[in-house]
Amino acid sequence: MFGVMGVVIFLLAVVLIRFRAKPGDRTIPKQVEGSNLLEFIWTAIPVLIITVLSILTVRLTFSMAQDHSDDPNALKIQVIAHQYWWEFRYPDLGIVTAQDLYIPVGKKISAELWSTDVIHSFWVPALTGKMDANPGALLDGKRQNANRFSFDAETVGVFLGKCAELCGPSHALMEFKVVVLPEDEFNRWVEAMKKPAPKPETTKAAAGEQTFQKNCMACHALEATDPANRPGPNLANIGNRLTIAGVLPAGDDAERAASLRRWIEAPNAVKPQNDVPGTVIMPPFKDKLSPEALDQLVDFLMLQKVDVAPPKAAAR
Ligand code: CUA
Repeated sequence: MFGVMGVVIFLLAVVLIRFRAKPGDRTIPKQVEGSNLLEFIWTAIPVLIITVLSILTVRLTFSMAQDHSDDPNALKIQVIAHQYWWEFRYPDLGIVTAQDLYIPVGKKISAELWSTDVIHSFWVPALTGKMDANPGALLDGKRQNANRFSFDAETVGVFLGKCAELCGPSHALMEFKVVVLPEDEFNRWVEAMKKPAPKPETTKAAAGEQTFQKNCMACHALEATDPANRPGPNLANIGNRLTIAGVLPAGDDAERAASLRRWIEAPNAVKPQNDVPGTVIMPPFKDKLSPEALDQLVDFLMLQKVDVAPPKAAAR
């Protein structure tokens, strides 16, 4: 834009200065009335540009508007947006996860998408266009306002996802990842997610389990197959998540533990107005739990991992 504007302003300035009325010069300049050649050129060029753009746009739009909802081979997922996190359900596989969406490479994905609070937008720039997640009221047992979209991933890897609709103070922090695995590895991941939650083997982690049961379990499930519709993110593979709460680093164990602790102590300091009234509230535990109890809780959460870890590749 600035490039085009610069050229236009420059030419305008040249014309204004060069052809201005000079002192004492009262002659009338040469009068021009219409030019068929010029008019043809300045009509033809925009028509050409718009035609090319239209062809590209229509082709891309149709390729993105693929609908696999009737395809029995497509993998069905449900994407549920919350202030400020993402829930992913696999209705045919009986598992639920959050923040990291795992899908098999090359497989058609048929997604249904809604929100539990305000309008969000699901966006993975490298894989698919944006799709709004609307608050979906249940009417007559049917979800209204759910959007459908289909997509697939052509390559294995980790892809960045973002919320693309202003949804509150932490909108910019509402990130997620899409983990694309080879199909057999995806299937192993599904089986691993169906296993019962690992039991603590140290007394420290066992104490953490007690703390979890007292403080966290009302909102968070530890098993991906948990039938209760708990309001907070499912934590089945929190020990494998690529980030904590979508934004805190989890590169190695020490970093993951530090991020978990930071999040549990004061979630609002990480995601402003994470406890906006009317939404599910993740309360700060800094004053509720002793530093020792927090350590034990983090120790226990670190155990919650499945043996199919996401690839170490950098996210695209
Ligand atoms: Cu959710 Cu922006």
